[in-house]
Amino acid sequence: MWRVLALLAALTLIIAACEVEDEDPIADPEEDDVAEDDIDEDPDPDDDVADDEIDPEDPDTIPDEAVEIFSWWTGAGEEAGLLALIDMFEEEHPEYEVVNSAVAGGAGTDAQAVLTSRMQAGDPPGTFQIHAGRALLDQWVEADAMQPLNFLYDEEDWWDVFPDELLDMTTDEDGNIYSVPVNVHRSNVMWTNPDVFEDAGVEVPTTIDEFVEAAEAIEEAGYTPLALGDNETWTLVHTWEGVLAATAGPELYEDLFAGEADWTSDEVVESFEVLDQMFDYVNDDHAARNWQEAAQLVGEGEAAMHIMGDWAGGYFWVDLDLELEEDFGWAPTPGSDGQFITVVDTFGLPEGAPNEEGTTDWLRILGSQEGQDTFNPLKGSIPARLDADETEYNEYGQETMADFESDTLIPSLAHNSAAPPDFTEEAQGVLEVFMSERDVERAVEDLEQAADSFLR
Ligand code: GAL
Repeated sequence: MWRVLALLAALTLIIAACEVEDEDPIADPEEDDVAEDDIDEDPDPDDDVADDEIDPEDPDTIPDEAVEIFSWWTGAGEEAGLLALIDMFEEEHPEYEVVNSAVAGGAGTDAQAVLTSRMQAGDPPGTFQIHAGRALLDQWVEADAMQPLNFLYDEEDWWDVFPDELLDMTTDEDGNIYSVPVNVHRSNVMWTNPDVFEDAGVEVPTTIDEFVEAAEAIEEAGYTPLALGDNETWTLVHTWEGVLAATAGPELYEDLFAGEADWTSDEVVESFEVLDQMFDYVNDDHAARNWQEAAQLVGEGEAAMHIMGDWAGGYFWVDLDLELEEDFGWAPTPGSDGQFITVVDTFGLPEGAPNEEGTTDWLRILGSQEGQDTFNPLKGSIPARLDADETEYNEYGQETMADFESDTLIPSLAHNSAAPPDFTEEAQGVLEVFMSERDVERAVEDLEQAADSFLR
């Protein structure tokens, strides 16, 4: 009933404000779900629901029939791939209106909170970005909030085009699959500035010992050895997980998250000792920067290294227009060569999703070879599909595809795949405290306690 009243109020206002015009906004069905307080006092008849009226936190601003795509891909290094994919979708499906409903904040810092409150209020977006693994399965599948997509995999013949590891990360015990992976990002990458290394007269480190030697020389040459931006503190967990892979190796890494190993073991202790050393070499203003602002220090030649997932690659070559190998280089996080920490972005279909048909058509594009080869070269990731057209990818992408095939794959903690959300949250708290107190013993003991509560 209130919707009808709101609509009537809207119509009255619009009629009063604009004597009948050619393009009559009154006839615009997109306006019909706009709440009263969202009504522009001075409506421009050329505006549909203007982008700035769309508020992902307020479902009333999302037109009912829209295909709403919810993510945290806004701004530098994040959105070029998504926008290209949306263009492709709109070209193939002019019949749908797309709402790109994105909430800023790296790794979904803010988006995940908004999503949770919308899901709890029974207002799910049409589809939303969700990491394969524990985030999807523990959070939403277990709560019966997602629709199985087996029918879509059947229709599109997708069962054999994705690696089994990825299918497993999106499938429950009954064999129901709940999302479509669009990419594979690598977490354990270290981005480098070749000129800084040359000036300091050192090679890019491949081991932790070499890292310390190189960092000393780089500091002496007047540069910041390691760029860090922990304004959003997930970057601390991100940096540490690569170091943990290095000190623990893939088997222990997996055992730790399976709750089958001791978090106070030597290897975990060592990971914090190394992190402690690394933090001695970071930029003074680390707490004021986000990941892009830290990556920029490497791009601009003020810092030598930055440990960040390969969305930073997309940021370098799309947004900053930097040349591969000339302006920036890359290597695995020191000591983690041969391991590939996966970060897999997927999209699913929540129960009660508006415009199911349109959303399913979006998922078809997202999972298609052409869709993936459009999205990933811009995003910095590799396609989740095995039949990608490699020529669409630059040298970084091609090298990463080869590593994905040969390396040991392990899931990311920082990006919600390795552990249940409660543990991940605790780990983030542990890393925040560690950054200020640098107390190794406390960090491992707190993690051991968290493991007892959430992993065993
Ligand atoms: C990750 C996500 C990536 C990228 C990154 C930085 O969690 O999987 O696609 O967006 O966060 O925000």
